[in-house]
Amino acid sequence: MKFLVINGPNLNRLGQRDPGIYGTKTLSEIESLLQERGKDLGVEVTAFQSNSEGSIIDHIQEASPGLSGIIINPGALTHYGLSLRDALADAGLPVVEVHLSNIHSREQWRAHSVIAPVALGQISGLGWRGYIAALEILAAQCKEAPQK
Ligand code: DQA
Repeated sequence: MKFLVINGPNLNRLGQRDPGIYGTKTLSEIESLLQERGKDLGVEVTAFQSNSEGSIIDHIQEASPGLSGIIINPGALTHYGLSLRDALADAGLPVVEVHLSNIHSREQWRAHSVIAPVALGQISGLGWRGYIAALEILAAQCKEAPQK
């Protein structure tokens, strides 16, 4: 079973970007934690980050035939990335949306996600552990209803 973890714009800055909101772990630390947890769960975890919506869509289109699921923190694309939403829907894979911060307790514009309707569910406000929870839940769901 192989999962892709996608991080969108500005998430390459984790560790330095607003640590009071997004925490102090870097993206590569979070990706390593996911890969370690993936080993315990028997899941191969690959990671991709881009600041460009088009590059994320290209990557989803290329990678999705070999995947069982996607974990995505779309960054600000969450709120307006309709092309990203269409690409995720087209991939036909289970998707879990993750946010480090609680998007429902911040500015009003952050509370709306255009990605949520094409996701199994959303984890928001639990910091880096939200990615681990997403991995565990997605692995459990895929084992119950294997697709690939
Ligand atoms: C975020 C929340 C978004 O509103 C923001 O634009 C981000 C990060 C989060 O992880 O909390 O870049 O997705």
